[in-house]
Amino acid sequence: MTWAATTLKCITKGLHLLRITYISEESKPFSISALLELLQQCHINNPRLGLTGLLIYGNGTFLQSIEGEDEAVKSIVDKISQDQRHRGFKILRKELATERFYTDWSMRFERLTEESLRKVPGLREFAIKKFNRDYLDTHVEIADLLIDSHRPAAQNPALDKEVREKQIVELRHALDACQQRQQMAALLIESVMETGKHSRLDNTQLRLCNSMLNSMRKSTKGRVRPT
Ligand SMILES: Cc1cc2nc3c(=O)[nH]c(=O)nc-3n(C[C@H](O)[C@H](O)[C@H](O)COP(=O)(O)O)c2cc1C
Repeated sequence: MTWAATTLKCITKGLHLLRITYISEESKPFSISALLELLQQCHINNPRLGLTGLLIYGNGTFLQSIEGEDEAVKSIVDKISQDQRHRGFKILRKELATERFYTDWSMRFERLTEESLRKVPGLREFAIKKFNRDYLDTHVEIADLLIDSHRPAAQNPALDKEVREKQIVELRHALDACQQRQQMAALLIESVMETGKHSRLDNTQLRLCNSMLNSMRKSTKGRVRPT
């Protein structure tokens, strides 16, 4: 079901959207290819399920927020919780919502580093080592800050009223999209370098290269756009 169809169903049935935020840690270190494979899975499945969200990864830790129709969110979260690639799955927030935070993203991805943390207001002094399951479990406000700081800038509906401000919103969308592609491209380059050590590209990497090229050529690929 498309995003628009899901929303329409929510409105006509008077259903609320559900947003779930959880933390977990990788079972064993994720290679760059494994990370890309995971993101591919999100970008293929989520639009079909009417799901949008944010996945933050760093220091071997995942912080993910998923939103969509109640049943779809519960079902994917159940699946994710049983995924052997991570452990210590713990739900931090489960909230009903009337609108999406991540309208444009089937799964917005952010790789957290010391450097990227320096840009987060309120977390400039936060050490990446503290971005771990146990710390976040007892400091949910830090998880909230991180989630909020990675919400797309253009979420304020009031901005749409003025043409000039609408243009700013569109520019922010375009910038967000560029930053996302840049992140994915950087991951892919690292992945190719990883394989370079063994001199040949394997089939998974060739497939990922192909799909990344297509995604970069069609700039809207992987995004869920309301119609
Ligand atoms: C940290 C983490 C986040 C995940 N997020 C998603 C997601 O947003 N959407 C999704 O379809 N699968 C996600 N998965 C993968 C699911 O656990 C599961 O493997 C996948 O949905 C199965 O897809 P398939 O039925 O197409 O094989 C995630 C897995 C991990 C470890």
